[in-house]
Amino acid sequence: MSNTDVVAEVRAGTKRYPGVTALSDVDFAVRRGEVRALLGKNGAGKSTLIKVLSGAEHLDSGEALVRGKPLAGLGTRDVAALGVATVYQELSLVPEMTVAENLFLGAWPRSRGALDLRRMRAEAKEAMARIGVDIDVDSPVGSLGSAGQQLVEIARAVAQRPTLLILDEPTSSLAAAEVRQVIDVVRTVAEQGVAVIYVSHRMDEIRQVADTATVVRDGRIVETLPVRTASTHEIVAMMLGTAPEAVAARTRRPSAEPPVLSARGLVSDRLNGLDIDVRPGEILGIAGVLGSGRTETLRALVGLDRPASGEIRLRGEAVRPGAFAAMLARGLGMTPENRRREGIVPLMGVDENIVISDLRRVSRSGVLDRRAIRQAARALIDRLAIKTARPGTPIGTLSGGNQQKAVLARWLHAGSDVLLLDEPTRGVDVEAKRQIYDQMRLLADDGRAVVFVSSEVEELADVCDRIVVLRGGRAVAELSGDEIELNRVMALAIAEE
Ligand SMILES: Nc1ncnc2c1ncn2[C@@H]1O[C@H](COP(=O)(O)OP(=O)(O)OP(=O)(O)O)[C@@H](O)[C@H]1O
Ligand SMILES: [Mg+2]
Repeated sequence: MSNTDVVAEVRAGTKRYPGVTALSDVDFAVRRGEVRALLGKNGAGKSTLIKVLSGAEHLDSGEALVRGKPLAGLGTRDVAALGVATVYQELSLVPEMTVAENLFLGAWPRSRGALDLRRMRAEAKEAMARIGVDIDVDSPVGSLGSAGQQLVEIARAVAQRPTLLILDEPTSSLAAAEVRQVIDVVRTVAEQGVAVIYVSHRMDEIRQVADTATVVRDGRIVETLPVRTASTHEIVAMMLGTAPEAVAARTRRPSAEPPVLSARGLVSDRLNGLDIDVRPGEILGIAGVLGSGRTETLRALVGLDRPASGEIRLRGEAVRPGAFAAMLARGLGMTPENRRREGIVPLMGVDENIVISDLRRVSRSGVLDRRAIRQAARALIDRLAIKTARPGTPIGTLSGGNQQKAVLARWLHAGSDVLLLDEPTRGVDVEAKRQIYDQMRLLADDGRAVVFVSSEVEELADVCDRIVVLRGGRAVAELSGDEIELNRVMALAIAEE
């Protein structure tokens, strides 16, 4: 391929933030019709590179160009006008507006000056159909859940008919079937000549979607290589800078203790007579496809939603449904699926975001103790290897995967007895995933109950002592100990009604 095919490039690009060099003398180019994966640990610099190419950030030195035009001084709108469409790692939709309105945010179709609602809806339907998704374009985006919102973001980017399509972890909250759809769309637009940059931590997905992969480590490009011939082991070693540790086979230990938390006959919008028992000393996995009621189950258990009927018991005692604060006070903790909207306070420090779950532990006679906050936070930052310049750095400036680890740290700080984790490894790199699994195991060994919701069946099958499969808002199957096998869980989760 000739150089005239280059759609976007960075030459000797360096980008610094206070305390970190996010990109260091980077050379990078992507060509027409190519799907390029960006791989690297959390905090390696992938999103920074993407933001530079979309005009959301500017280099301190070096040059970024799109179709030969330097991006210095251009904003995201100017760069979009050059044909760049970007799906950022954090969702950027307006929850109160409808899917159709979001799809054309800022560029609503008009006829004779007036907003053309009919055309907007028709084009929105077409855009959703193009990515093979059946979502009502009139529903407010906020009602969709993370997976639905991610699909809308992708549809929005594809609808712009870009020359360069940039996707930063577009599938982090999607399950296998939706991931398949996204891969198909990406392959189709690439065949039409669009250049695609694609970030994901899932190697199997990278293999299906990408032609070449660029590995980034500590802000530097390690290598660019063809995906098909490189082994996963080789690529992971490049990402980490060392050979990955061999993973020891685990013995599963389903707990025989009486349930610490149980629910009977929960009925709500998405739940349809759900029964579930959570036992101390085990990691309980919840599997199921999009819309099966995974998140709703956790929300009902922790009291964030009040089911229309049904009963919840904590340590044998009936609890009032919907009593979130009381549940937290009685030792429950939950990491939400959508950390941006529900999980973190972006402008507050990493330390403050961690200790917020239990301020008593870091107070003296009712007054917050700065040193105690730093100490508690530092210990957890080390334990989970959270990459942050300082404990007090605003959490919003951390890379996505590191924000996710901080949200988990919060509940480790709280010392909850029952921990409900909704997609805790979303956007987390291979090494960090291990660390999170290890923490879950430590908690279970310590007699706590861990409930683990994930759209990646592989990790459930890897980590859990017991797995409950949801379908249509009910628990339809349960596997325990040696019964847990990847193929079996998968088959159960996706089986038809
Ligand atoms: N606005 C910002 N202010 C300060 N530091 C930042 C900012 N944005 C990114 N950083 C830092 O730059 C480094 C690279 O971050 P980046 O988001 O590019 O990582 P990433 O490879 O996308 O990681 P992940 O896989 O976790 O998304 C990190 O150390 C991060 O904390
Ligand atoms: Mg990122």
